[in-house]
Amino acid sequence: MELLLFSTAFLLTFAGFTLSAEPCPPCGNTTVPFPLSTSSSCNDPSYKIRCSSSTLFFDTLNYSYPIQSINPNTQRFIIQPASLISNTCVTTDKIHQGIQLNNTLPFNITSSNTIVYLNCTQSLLMSPLNCSSTSLCHSYINGTVSASACGGELCCSYRAGGSSNSYMIRVRESGCSAYSSFVNLDPVLQVNRWPEPGLEIQWLLPKETVCGSQGDCDTTKSSCGADTRSGNGINRCFCNSGFVWDPVQGVCAEVMNKGSTDRTALIAGLTSGIGALLIIVIIATLLYKRHRRIVEAQQRLAKEREGILNASGGGRAAKLFTGREIKKATNDLSSDRLLGIGGYGEVYKGILQDGTVIAVKCAKLGNAKGTDQILNEVRILCQVNHRNLVGLLGCCVELEQPIMVYEFIENEWSYSYRDRHNEGIGISGIRVLRGTKTEPTFDERGSRGD
Ligand SMILES: *[C@@H]1O[C@H](CO)[C@@H](O)[C@H](O)[C@H]1NC(C)=O
Ligand SMILES: *[C@@H]1O[C@H](CO)[C@@H](O)[C@H](O)[C@H]1NC(C)=O
Ligand SMILES: *[C@@H]1O[C@H](CO)[C@@H](O)[C@H](O)[C@H]1NC(C)=O
Ligand SMILES: *[C@@H]1O[C@H](CO)[C@@H](O)[C@H](O)[C@H]1NC(C)=O
Ligand SMILES: *[C@@H]1O[C@H](CO)[C@@H](O)[C@H](O)[C@H]1NC(C)=O
Ligand SMILES: *[C@@H]1O[C@H](CO)[C@@H](O)[C@H](O)[C@H]1NC(C)=O
Ligand SMILES: *[C@@H]1O[C@H](CO)[C@@H](O)[C@H](O)[C@H]1NC(C)=O
Repeated sequence: MELLLFSTAFLLTFAGFTLSAEPCPPCGNTTVPFPLSTSSSCNDPSYKIRCSSSTLFFDTLNYSYPIQSINPNTQRFIIQPASLISNTCVTTDKIHQGIQLNNTLPFNITSSNTIVYLNCTQSLLMSPLNCSSTSLCHSYINGTVSASACGGELCCSYRAGGSSNSYMIRVRESGCSAYSSFVNLDPVLQVNRWPEPGLEIQWLLPKETVCGSQGDCDTTKSSCGADTRSGNGINRCFCNSGFVWDPVQGVCAEVMNKGSTDRTALIAGLTSGIGALLIIVIIATLLYKRHRRIVEAQQRLAKEREGILNASGGGRAAKLFTGREIKKATNDLSSDRLLGIGGYGEVYKGILQDGTVIAVKCAKLGNAKGTDQILNEVRILCQVNHRNLVGLLGCCVELEQPIMVYEFIENEWSYSYRDRHNEGIGISGIRVLRGTKTEPTFDERGSRGD
């Protein structure tokens, strides 16, 4: 059951990651991750980039920069900054006023960028930028052959990402004429160990997919509705209850609600627990019933035996042997003491404590009725004056089987042993005795014998 729940959750999780919008085809060998979009019909078109001759480009307001790498997990990509026009200290994008992002678009410049400004005017000295003689820009110029033209001009450096410079690296006549950028620069490094120039751009996590109608949405997971948050009349595919917007994958993902999984786990646990409990209870009941039956049977036997005890209280009856005595005499009814097996049961040879050799007849215990009969017969036999019976010493009613104890007479027992197929030994012979005098005459006979 848990397995079923688990696999269902597993399937749902995976189903949750199918894209609701068309993914963009790769650009050359480069995949275009969500939400970046190379056309108005794939991923999220508000994250527009451009694919041209198998290369991705990021278009700013006035210019275009090749994308070097993309990390969809951190929502960042790195563009290649403009280079210097050879033998000048002017970058190629100066005519476009450097890098200027449309600040209504979801992209900005990250604070991982270290910017060096080159060929600056004195007005920059008023800026918060580091334009001192120890500024990193001097190291850059000194260590970079292509920037040699910049030597002797004022230069500055700064770390990008402030509110005023997260959308532009402005290059102009009244400011600086050139720049370069380095991602995650360690300033203590020698210039020849600096990374390649690059500018890291970050994108905002996307909102739900824009839609014109419900048909644009994944019907099972989202519904097309007005985006009241922006209030610009845009409709978006808002996730249905049970789903939550995943801005990295760009899908409505199944809510892995801890409470509900806990509940289902609890229900599953309870159900299987109750099932196990039921089985245990059934088994316990059966065992108990069986035990009760055995106990009841034993109690009935005990009662019968008590009856025999009481009946034999008359003083005349044969001796009542204990189970212990019988076991000791017959070496625990061992098979090498077995004299024979008859219709009545088994006969063992035994030696009593005082040396008397005995024959022990164990009644065969069949069904309850048989047991009762045998017990009855044993009782009768034990109550009969044993003068009338050849060699009856007594009986034992303590063991599971009622037992008759006889004197052991070699010939007789060997005869009986031989005759075992012919009703065998024991009670059959007594029946004859009983038969000659007709039915319930044992007590009479007993008293007559007195
Ligand atoms: C694309 O990859 C293939 C093999 O992986 C390579 O031969 C080819 O030059 C690559 N193309 C580009 C544009 O990187
Ligand atoms: C520095 O910038 C100015 C203004 O753009 C330009 O005229 C000059 O040529 C630049 N210096 C070098 C060495 O390129
Ligand atoms: C840069 O683009 C903006 C908006 O498109 C435009 O107003 C501006 O004139 C452009 N500047 C240059 C130097 O191209
Ligand atoms: C900036 O982007 C918005 C949204 O795409 C667009 O409407 C606007 O025209 C853009 N601004 C410029 C100056 O291009
Ligand atoms: C400018 O940068 C250098 C090198 O990083 C540093 O040693 C210096 O203290 C900075 N100066 C100012 C005024 O920030
Ligand atoms: C420029 O670099 C050379 C070695 O490459 C070094 O000797 C010199 O001091 C550096 N000059 C400045 C101003 O950093
Ligand atoms: C740039 O974008 C990130 C999210 O991508 C945002 O946290 C940060 O505030 C933005 N920076 C500015 C100056 O708007």
